[in-house]
Amino acid sequence: MEQPVISLRGATASLGSRPVLRGVDLAVHRGEVVALLGANGSGKSTAVRAVVGQVPLTGGELELFGTPRRRFRDWSRVGYVPQRTTAASGVPATVREVVSAGRLARTGLGPTRKADREAVTKALELVGMADRIKDSVNALSGGQHQRVLIARALAGEPELLIMDEPMAGVDLASQEVLAKALREEVARGATVLLVLHELGPLEPLIDRAVVLRDGCVVHDGPPPQAVGQHALPGHDHVHPHADPAAEPIRTGLLS
Ligand SMILES: Nc1ncnc2c1ncn2[C@@H]1O[C@H](COP(=O)(O)OP(=O)(O)OP(=O)(O)O)[C@@H](O)[C@H]1O
Ligand SMILES: [Mg+2]
Repeated sequence: MEQPVISLRGATASLGSRPVLRGVDLAVHRGEVVALLGANGSGKSTAVRAVVGQVPLTGGELELFGTPRRRFRDWSRVGYVPQRTTAASGVPATVREVVSAGRLARTGLGPTRKADREAVTKALELVGMADRIKDSVNALSGGQHQRVLIARALAGEPELLIMDEPMAGVDLASQEVLAKALREEVARGATVLLVLHELGPLEPLIDRAVVLRDGCVVHDGPPPQAVGQHALPGHDHVHPHADPAAEPIRTGLLS
């Protein structure tokens, strides 16, 4: 059988003196779309940051594309959208500069080629932000900024796309745009790991859900359905009949 694109086995990690991942097993296979779910503080961001090499493991094993993490160098194959922070960057970069940074692993610091410029434009079109390419990112709203960060990850045309709560602070119309962009990435053959609080418009794309609780995997299987969510612990339920246009469907996994 083909090697998983991401293989995390028995992963442990601590932040400060606190154990945050306590033996996480997570495998994502080529072409899969996996949602990583769980309550605030359950370790979702730490798990994806461990995968992209930003948090060291204290135990267990990590392989990317079948290569042990310590030997893995091919970061151009990976696109990463970190969880949004409220801190303003203060750096007056333009939208074009930020999205072009997503090509750096491919281009190095050499001159941008036509293919790079086209990839940047295409990524911005995918998230519906092409008309803002010359604007300073400081002139964007929170949700627009998030879409630019997604475009940055898409611009590198990664084989593996990892996004930490890409829909946070993004309105429903833009979520639909992003869902379409992601569908195109999947059609192109991308493998996707998404941290989510609610499946929303992404629900039809998701093959499998992994749920963390206190740094441990408590579910790995079919995504939880909008119906039957009362069965899940700590559900935060919005009734599906209560104006579906106003509120994305909640999975009940946000406690
Ligand atoms: N830099 C840090 N130093 C110490 N502890 C941290 C640090 N970052 C996160 N933690 C702790 O690690 C635990 C897991 O955090 P993590 O950010 O992975 O959770 P999460 O599942 O992504 O939560 P959220 O849904 O709020 O994004 C939390 O208890 C958090 O307080
Ligand atoms: Mg997080």
